[in-house]
This record gives sequence, structure tokens and C-alpha cells, in this order.
Amino acid sequence: NYYAILMAGGVGSRFWPVSTQEFPKQFHDMLGTGETLIQKTFSRLSKIIPKENIFILTNECYNDLVLEQLPEVSSKQVVLEPAMRNTAPCILYASLKIEKINPNAVVIVAPSDHWIEDEMAFTNNVEEAFEFCQENDALMTLGIKPTFPNTGYGYIEFDKENTDTIKPVKQFREKPDYNTAKEFIAKGNFVWNAGIFMWGVQNVLKAFKENQSDLFTLFKSGQALYNTKEEAAFIEENYPKAENISVDYAIMEKSKNVFVLPAAFDWNDLGTWGSLYDKLPKDDNNNAIVNAKTLVENSTGNMIRTENDKVVIVDGLKDYIIVDKKDVLLIFPKDKEQDIKIVLNKVKENF
Ligand code: GDD
Ligand code: MG
Repeated sequence: NYYAILMAGGVGSRFWPVSTQEFPKQFHDMLGTGETLIQKTFSRLSKIIPKENIFILTNECYNDLVLEQLPEVSSKQVVLEPAMRNTAPCILYASLKIEKINPNAVVIVAPSDHWIEDEMAFTNNVEEAFEFCQENDALMTLGIKPTFPNTGYGYIEFDKENTDTIKPVKQFREKPDYNTAKEFIAKGNFVWNAGIFMWGVQNVLKAFKENQSDLFTLFKSGQALYNTKEEAAFIEENYPKAENISVDYAIMEKSKNVFVLPAAFDWNDLGTWGSLYDKLPKDDNNNAIVNAKTLVENSTGNMIRTENDKVVIVDGLKDYIIVDKKDVLLIFPKDKEQDIKIVLNKVKENF
């Protein structure tokens, strides 16, 4: 009864110039291990879920990339979106498809681009959550111990006194402002949402029906066609009509039956060059170097990545990102990494 929805439709613009609209980060070997992020995620999930029950949700334009990088996956398992509408529409659509195949399915929804090293701990957590979801009308999240007031994450509040491993959630708050995030962290009973969800397929559909009735009606009206030849035409016409909204705002913030299991593994959402830097092995001066032959002197804290075996010489540089691609060279301070999105837009305007 175990199924997975693997989300692989994001663009990863803060990882430009490696991640691009044509070739986003989940299809790159960001860690320099010989495997792309989506390959790593697929292999992690396939330890728990039968391979043929793993559905990959992505934009039409990445179909070939998915099939090429995951040869074990059949084209039926790649669910294509004709437009980018964030995570709520894609999760609802995939859930209705899965419900048609198996109404008793228990589903994990996972991003394709995160770093999780301890696969054993991940497997144990997911199995425990799956068992809970089989018995309970629960929308399960995995909680990560927060380290700073990151405003890019969802925050989960639970009862301080509760010592159970799986706890009911008092409040789910997506992307609070900085001061609110600071307050949350100071209270001590908040964790970050890892962006990984687990639930019985019936229960998530109920949550969509109750909280997003327009979205629900739109996709439900095509359900009879799902997994048939007529599906593509229906989706081509109707998917673009869906509201652009993430699952966090669409159902998680609104539902009363959210539960959290504090994760027993180290997690990183690899959102920026700095977060990748944190997870890479370093040289003696804390420089992280991927795919490069380097001579690095008097330099610390840099993230250096090239392609095509280029030789790189660096002297006297501190806390910079250096990324060399065929047609772009980025040399950027690490503490301004969030601005790479803005730079990318300027580049698009000017060149
Ligand atoms: N198929 C598909 N279609 N996938 C998508 C789409 C889409 O339109 N949009 C985003 N995704 C994928 C991304 O590639 C990523 O793997 C995942 O869905 C989550 O989207 P993000 O855009 O990265 O979300 P976020 O980082 O703003 O926030 C989420 O993740 C945080 C943890 O990393 C939320 O769930 C937060 O609450 C959470 O803390
Ligand atoms: Mg993200």
C-alpha cells in the first residue's frame, strides 16, 4: 500500500549558473558524488516503497531528463504538468491518480533535491509515520530542530509537555516574518517543516476537499480519465486553470489533524550555495571544492565549483562562491547568496 510522490518541478534559481530553467538542480550532481539529487532521492525512497509505486511529478519539459536519469522508472510513473503551479495542484492531481489505483494507499510526498545522509534513520522515521497514517486520519510532517530564524521554512508548534514521538501539531505556520520566526525559536517547542509529508490518500483528499474546494473540484472532475489515454488532453486544458499555491498554505496551515515526528536524521534542503557548502567535505582551510583542480592559497571558506576539469588558482579570497560554467563565471560573496536570484534576472534582461 506504500506510494510516493516525488516532486521535481522546481527551478532552483539560487543555484544559478549551475541550475537553470532548462536543467534545474535536482538533475545535477550537486554534491560531486557521481549521482544527481533526484537519483539519490529515488534510491532513498526505493528502500521503503516499491519502485513501481514511486511517481515523479514534474514539468513537461523535464520528462526526458527524468527518464534518462531514472531508467528504472516507466513513463507511466512520470506525471507531467503543463504549467508551473507550485506544489498544491501537483500533489492533489497525483493523489487522485493514486487513489484510483489504490484507495488504501499511504503516501509520502518528498522533494527531489534535499540532502539526507542517514538513510537508516530516514527509513525508520518514514516507516513509523506510515504505520501511524494507516491507523489515523493524520497529515504527518517531519520536524527539524531549528538553528536560526530562517524565514524560508514552515514552522511547526507542538505541546511542550508531550513526550510521544508522534505529536499533534498546535499550529503550522508557513514562512513567518523574521521577528515571528525569532519568537518561535525562543519558545523551544517549534521545529522546521522538512517539506516531507505522509498521509493516507483518502485523508489528504479530504483535506483538499475541505480547504481548497475549487482546486478539488477542478481536478476531481477529470479523475475518471486519469490513467487512461484521455488524461493528457484533460490536464493540458485544465491544469493551467489551477491556482498557484503551495501545499503548505493550501492545506497544512488550515488543517486540524496535522502531526509531527521529530526527524532523527540530519537534513539540509540544499536551497543555496551556502547550504551546499555546509554539506561538502572541506580542505584544511575550509574551502569546499567540487570538480576542480585547484591551487588555493591564503583563502578560507570558499565554495569552488567548475566543469570540464578546469584548473583554478585562488589566492587571498575569503567566503566567496566561485562557479564556472561554459558560458558564465560567477564570483559572489557567500553572505549575499540570496541575491543570486536577483542577479539572474538582471542577466536575463541584459544578455
Ligand atoms: N512537480 C512540481 N511542480 N514540483 C514543484 C513545483 C511544481 O510546480 N514547485 C516546487 N516544486 C518542488 C521543488 O522542486 C521542491 O523540491 C519542492 O517542490 C518544494 O518546493 P520549494 O519551492 O522548494 O518550497 P519551499 O522551499 O519554498 O518551502 C517548502 O519546503 C521547506 C523546506 O525545504 C515548504 O514545505 C516549507 O514549509 C519547508 O520548510
Ligand atoms: Mg525549497
